[in-house]
Amino acid sequence: MRTQIVAGNWKMNKNFAEAEELIGAIASEMEDKQLKCEVVLCPPALYLEMASDYADESDFFVGAQNVSEHDEGAYTGEVSAAMLNSVDVDFCIVGHSERRKYFHEDNYMLANKVNRLLDHEIITIYCCGEVLEEREKNIHFDIVEQQIKESLFHLSEDEFSNIVLAYEPVWAIGTGVTATPAQAQEMHAFIRKVIKNKYGEEAAESTTILYGGSCNAANAKELFSQADVDGGLIGGASLKAEDFLTIANSF
Ligand code: 13P
Repeated sequence: MRTQIVAGNWKMNKNFAEAEELIGAIASEMEDKQLKCEVVLCPPALYLEMASDYADESDFFVGAQNVSEHDEGAYTGEVSAAMLNSVDVDFCIVGHSERRKYFHEDNYMLANKVNRLLDHEIITIYCCGEVLEEREKNIHFDIVEQQIKESLFHLSEDEFSNIVLAYEPVWAIGTGVTATPAQAQEMHAFIRKVIKNKYGEEAAESTTILYGGSCNAANAKELFSQADVDGGLIGGASLKAEDFLTIANSF
């Protein structure tokens, strides 16, 4: 069976004290739950070390929201994969639509980020997804396929086993408009087919594909019940311990 994952992308929210409170609440509430998925918390970079300290005593993993495409050196403000590794970060989100839009990250730059993470044994959560206009033009499958090919298909099959995919239709992010379970399933099955064509059946069947975009405590169960939806990448609803853990308990 594929690894099921619920990951919380906190984006640029919470000060240090609030972050510690939320991590502490999630860690303690997880203790009496038998979750069927792996839980990944992706707080802002400043709190990763603190999250790792909590993770040592708990059952969740720690993820970063971004990484530099460079190894080290004169890149003011950037955080490298080696730095993430040095504070025991397990996962890193790459290619979120907010980074593509506001920071002009393209598929080839994202391929470099994936390479840096592989060098330092950090699992990539690679985000793909179309904007509304692309769906309306019926080119959403082409867009997602291109995002995956250009950022990931230089990898060997072995390297690809360190990738988690996250389908996040941009029109569903932070809007309250969720993809229907059928829309999510359709795209996830397509993504699995794209992987199969490149890496074969076994790789395709073992790749975890998450859904993200207005996923919440009320709709997670139906989304996660779809055959090719292996969990979620959660934004807004990951900022409250109770909601986030309800989602993580939705398998
Ligand atoms: P929302 O859950 O707030 O729509 O955000 C989804 C997302 O962007 C997760 O990476």
